[in-house]
Amino acid sequence: MTASSPAVVDAVAIDGPASSGKSTLAREVAKRLGFVFVDTGSLYRAVALALDRAGAGEATSDDPSLHAALSDLSVSLLPTHSGVRVSLSGLDVTPFLREERIGRIASRVSAFPAVRKALFDLQRNLALAGRIVMDGRDIGSVILPEARLKIFLEADPEVRARRRLADLERSGLSVSYETVLADILDRDTRDRTRAISPLVMAPGALLLDTSRMTVEEAVSWIVARYR
Ligand code: DC
Repeated sequence: MTASSPAVVDAVAIDGPASSGKSTLAREVAKRLGFVFVDTGSLYRAVALALDRAGAGEATSDDPSLHAALSDLSVSLLPTHSGVRVSLSGLDVTPFLREERIGRIASRVSAFPAVRKALFDLQRNLALAGRIVMDGRDIGSVILPEARLKIFLEADPEVRARRRLADLERSGLSVSYETVLADILDRDTRDRTRAISPLVMAPGALLLDTSRMTVEEAVSWIVARYR
């Protein structure tokens, strides 16, 4: 074991499919534990935004425009009480990251090895510093297998679709339930079947199905397991 690979890191890794409530729970758990909260989906979304702005939003994995945009990439994170702010080349792009279009590009390009490689060190170094709750798809399996607590979230697709629909309606968007459900099932397939860092339950992770739980119940469950 080397200094850069400790046996256990004081951290909570939360992985799970789209709209399983990862970020909501991770933010609350971080608040309770006094830890930093990092939503790694926002990093993939920042890369998607950078590619889109460079005209490489449609690029395939071996496209020179993808590699050119990745080599110009400068992503940084600023943790705040309400979550991380993400900057691209020093400019705060946080408000643009939740757009549906950016989510779709992120879902596609996150399967590319070059994209995952570009974000690995940033995530690993943040995670190794500890006192962090990190959510994503591969935190417990790839980024920080040494996390003291690893959680794999599940929720029925129909429950996730209803939660996502409520979020969209709150932000003034009107989309049909069927469209949201189809998008969730589509993302599940892509996230679970990609060759590199697929969404899987990490060894030693605890499964938490939130289909019939409130946010408060799920947060308390995670915090109790950590302690
Ligand atoms: O969680 P999210 O919807 O904000 O994530 C955006 C996309 O990024 C999602 O389609 C999957 C991908 N992602 C990933 O591959 N690995 C992570 N650790 C986090 C997100």
